[in-house]
Amino acid sequence: MEVKTSLLDNMIGVGDMVLLEPLSEDSFLENLKKRFDHSEIYTYIGSVVISMNPYRSLPIYTPDKVEEYRNRNFYELSPHIYALADEAYRSLRDQDKDQCILITGESGAGKTEASKLVMSYVAAVCGKGQEVNKVKEQLLQSNPVLEAFGNAKTVRNDNSSRFGKYMDIEFDFKGDPLGGVISNYLLEKSRVVKQPRGERNFHVFYQLLSGASDDTLKKLRLHRDVSKYNYLSLDSAVVSGLDDAANFRTVRNAMQIVGFMEDEVQSVLQLVAAVLKLGNIEFKPESRCNGTDESRIKDKNDLKEMCELLGIEQSVLERAFSYRTVEAKLEKVSTTLNVAQAYYARDALAKNLYSRLFTWLVTRINESIKAQTKTRHKVMGVLDIYGFEIFEDNSFEQFIINYCNEKLQQIFIELTLREEQEEYVREGIEWTNIEYFNNAVICDLIENNKNGILAMLDEECLRPGTVTDETFLDKLNTVCAEHQHFESRLSKNSKFLTDHSLPHNCFRIQHYAGKVLYRVEGFMDKNNDLLYRDLSQAMYKANHSLIKQLFPEGNPAKVNLKRPPTAGFQFRASVSTLMKNLQTKNPNYIRCIKPNDKKAPHIFTESLIRHQVRYLGLMENVRVRRAGYAFRQTYEPCLERYKMLCKRTWPHWRGRAREGVEVLMADLQVPAEEFSYGRSKIFIRNPRTLFFLEERRRQCLQDLATLIQKIYRGWKCRSHFLLLKKSQIVVAAWYRRYAQQKKYQRIKSATTVVQSYARGWQARKLLRELKYQKRCEEAATTIAAYWHGTQARRELRRLKEEARRKHAVAVIWAYWQGLKVRREYRKFFRAHAGKKIYDFTIQRIMQKYFLGLRNNLPSMSPIDKNWPARTYLFLDGAHAELRRIFHLWRCKKYRSQFTEERKAVYEEKLEASEIFKDKKALYPSSVSQPFKGDYLEISKNPKYQKLNNAVDEKVLLADVVNKINRANGKGTARIFLPTKKSVVLADQKTGQVKASVPLPDLTSVSVSTQSDGFFALKLKEGSASAVKGDFLLSSEHLIEIITKLHRIGATATDREQLSIDISDEFLVQFKQDKVCVKFVQGAPKNGNSVSCKRKNNRLLEVSVPATA
Ligand SMILES: Nc1ncnc2c1ncn2[C@@H]1O[C@H](COP(=O)(O)OP(=O)(O)OP(=O)(O)O)[C@@H](O)[C@H]1O
Ligand SMILES: [Mg+2]
Repeated sequence: MEVKTSLLDNMIGVGDMVLLEPLSEDSFLENLKKRFDHSEIYTYIGSVVISMNPYRSLPIYTPDKVEEYRNRNFYELSPHIYALADEAYRSLRDQDKDQCILITGESGAGKTEASKLVMSYVAAVCGKGQEVNKVKEQLLQSNPVLEAFGNAKTVRNDNSSRFGKYMDIEFDFKGDPLGGVISNYLLEKSRVVKQPRGERNFHVFYQLLSGASDDTLKKLRLHRDVSKYNYLSLDSAVVSGLDDAANFRTVRNAMQIVGFMEDEVQSVLQLVAAVLKLGNIEFKPESRCNGTDESRIKDKNDLKEMCELLGIEQSVLERAFSYRTVEAKLEKVSTTLNVAQAYYARDALAKNLYSRLFTWLVTRINESIKAQTKTRHKVMGVLDIYGFEIFEDNSFEQFIINYCNEKLQQIFIELTLREEQEEYVREGIEWTNIEYFNNAVICDLIENNKNGILAMLDEECLRPGTVTDETFLDKLNTVCAEHQHFESRLSKNSKFLTDHSLPHNCFRIQHYAGKVLYRVEGFMDKNNDLLYRDLSQAMYKANHSLIKQLFPEGNPAKVNLKRPPTAGFQFRASVSTLMKNLQTKNPNYIRCIKPNDKKAPHIFTESLIRHQVRYLGLMENVRVRRAGYAFRQTYEPCLERYKMLCKRTWPHWRGRAREGVEVLMADLQVPAEEFSYGRSKIFIRNPRTLFFLEERRRQCLQDLATLIQKIYRGWKCRSHFLLLKKSQIVVAAWYRRYAQQKKYQRIKSATTVVQSYARGWQARKLLRELKYQKRCEEAATTIAAYWHGTQARRELRRLKEEARRKHAVAVIWAYWQGLKVRREYRKFFRAHAGKKIYDFTIQRIMQKYFLGLRNNLPSMSPIDKNWPARTYLFLDGAHAELRRIFHLWRCKKYRSQFTEERKAVYEEKLEASEIFKDKKALYPSSVSQPFKGDYLEISKNPKYQKLNNAVDEKVLLADVVNKINRANGKGTARIFLPTKKSVVLADQKTGQVKASVPLPDLTSVSVSTQSDGFFALKLKEGSASAVKGDFLLSSEHLIEIITKLHRIGATATDREQLSIDISDEFLVQFKQDKVCVKFVQGAPKNGNSVSCKRKNNRLLEVSVPATA
């Protein structure tokens, strides 16, 4: 829904001065102050915008604000410069009316800022597109260029525009900008050569010196130091908050955007540099012989550099500074210049050079920004011109400026009244004459062609003979004496004779905005604006295209003896053109006010503002605006705004808006003389009436607000309650669901339990039944089995009985038959024949058996286990006995073939078997090895001859054994020779007897159960042999050695049997110590050898590889 707002909403003071009640200067100022204190810098007087300079940046120019004011009616929102810009732009675009925006105010009041705000607003709301954006950018960027060359720091404003500017922005039918034209008015060129205290020259000089690169400065033959230039004031060269270097870059960039060529920029800078150089040219007097004074240039260096920059021949310029040539018809007269004249000429040249350069810049910018199409344009003009100036010391410039403002006021009055009148006619309201002050009379005083002040001035300037400012004042005193707005001490009008506030060399004009006193000094000079022809000719001769262009009058081919038009004349002409231009357009006014002299925010200097309000004629504005009706509004918004004041129009009026308003006014009993009904608007005569309506509206709005609040609260509570109820239902539903779910879960789990118990019970019951059934079945089966068993057994018994019976029958039958046969055949057989047959049969069987046995006898090898199978059961015992007998027989047979030695060998083997079988693991491997006894062939081997001789007895065995060293377990080879009496150990190599142990000293032999060949010979304690201790030996023929030793013991009668101890751990007496020899099974290492290690004093460990 679109929210209708109004200027009247939330007003601080009154937003429109027309509504001020009561209207007086004080209330006007009070309202301005109130608004200013609340940062409301804009106030309306009807459609005029008063703008107070806030001297601080306010957040009211944002893109959001632009959007807010875009396409809104002027009185819809609080006063703003955007509202005016929008109104102007929309009437231009939609109603095809050319617009002009007139911005006035004193220096520093914010005119230039206002003009920029208007331009930026229009740029933001108008069409977009590449081409359009370029045009916009060029129009906006023309500002920095013109500001650099035309603005300067003054005591009133750090960025004061020293020229008047009027810019026409051209739009196409869609409202898109096409281009623009700038007009400039009266540049304050005197500033180029001299600046008042605390002020600066134009910005561009300082920007160039601080912002240009060293290179550029060198090319321009300039120094960065400001103090080197006479034309630049030093005391305020640096302005706080103004960055000249950065601004120089901005200006260069802007020039580029606007379309300046690089060489053009360079030319412009050269001219600026030339002006600075010009200021440094100084003159000294030189007396000539004819008694006249001449001037000479002091130091020609600056002149030289300037001439180089501009391409002028130095001598030409030097001459131009020394002579003045006056041409009259056919005569040419040259006079020398004295020092003062030379300085005058120098300054005139500088001023002209600069002001012409400025005009050229404007022309050049115009060239760039001019509309490209020739179609009809709509135009919006923005006039940023100096406002009324009333100083203590007012001169020609103030006169001209104030003249311009008079003209603007005139046009304002004219156009406002015209517009007012037109509106009345349009709306069908009777026009009553309005009383107001018409300043046409003042304009006439100044511009009248016959006896106007400007005409007098021109006349005086052109008049031959001595003319001075005083003669000009005299002339005015005569011509204007009768004028009611002209005041002069010496005028013919004697009433000012005693007015001491009016000095003799001054005249005073009563402007519409107040009285201004002008000092005539300099009027003539400034109006003449004289530049010696020699100088313009010298300039024309320059080899610099821009300079040449700027001084066309210096062209000798076009010598014009006519005087150039005076400054006053030119200005009057341009003002007149401007006025004509403005009259064709719809005016929009922005009146700028400067709140204080300190350039500071928040300070409202009442006296200063009162002064401005006066000379801007703002009270006059309000009065004119209020002369008829103070307020008007179209019927629709009026009805919309106040319809709540009447029951019939509230909340909806179905009929036409006007009728609704009529009903409303009648209902409110507003006196008929207080308002009038126009065609589309209601006109309210007095602001009181409007405020009465507003007050009633405010009260009504409060009631309505209460009502709305009441309904809203009711609605809110109801919605809240409904929401709560709905929520409660949802919560309850969820809770119930939850509770039911829980209950269900409980029941379900209970059911499951009950069910499981029931199922369990059923299952157990079923199990019991099944088990019972199974038992029954098993019982039945058992019974059946028993039954069948019984049956079967019974049957078996029966069958057996039957078989027995049958057999018995058969036997009986056989006996019977036999008996019968025997009885029958007894007579044929002898007695006892049966026994004989039986014996015979047995004999035959036996015969057959023995014969079969003989033929199948096994081999004669005692180890052959074969024996023929038994054939008859009854021969079982005999068969086994025969086998035994046969075996014994064949063994005897086998033995009977043995020789005595062989028999002894087998006896030994037999004995070995008795000793070792199943006791020592080494034994099985020895069975197949024959016991050789003399392995060394000791009796035959000559090596052992000596040893053989040393042993008396017959050697039973000769073999090499290892004697184990008791210290380290290592073996030493020894020849082992047992005889029937002793055991001899001899050195293997030498055959020398090492030890001889008589057999009686040998008590026992210890061996292990394992497959090693270790054996210990244990000696009788106390015997002679036992002194050295027992022997621990090892031999490959251990079984044979031990068996032989045992046999010797067995056969000897003189001593005890040698005991053989087989165990894996036994003690051996080594000298004094008993050492335990322990046999362990070890992993096969170093082949399959047995290793012996002395573990400690008491243990000797023999590691025997495990036999596979
Ligand atoms: N609307 C504004 N918001 C903030 N500051 C402003 C505004 N208007 C003006 N100013 C400040 O005031 C200074 C002077 O304004 P501006 O140059 O527009 O004055 P002017 O009326 O053009 O003066 P002159 O006649 O000397 O050219 C600006 O430099 C700026 O600092
Ligand atoms: Mg300005």
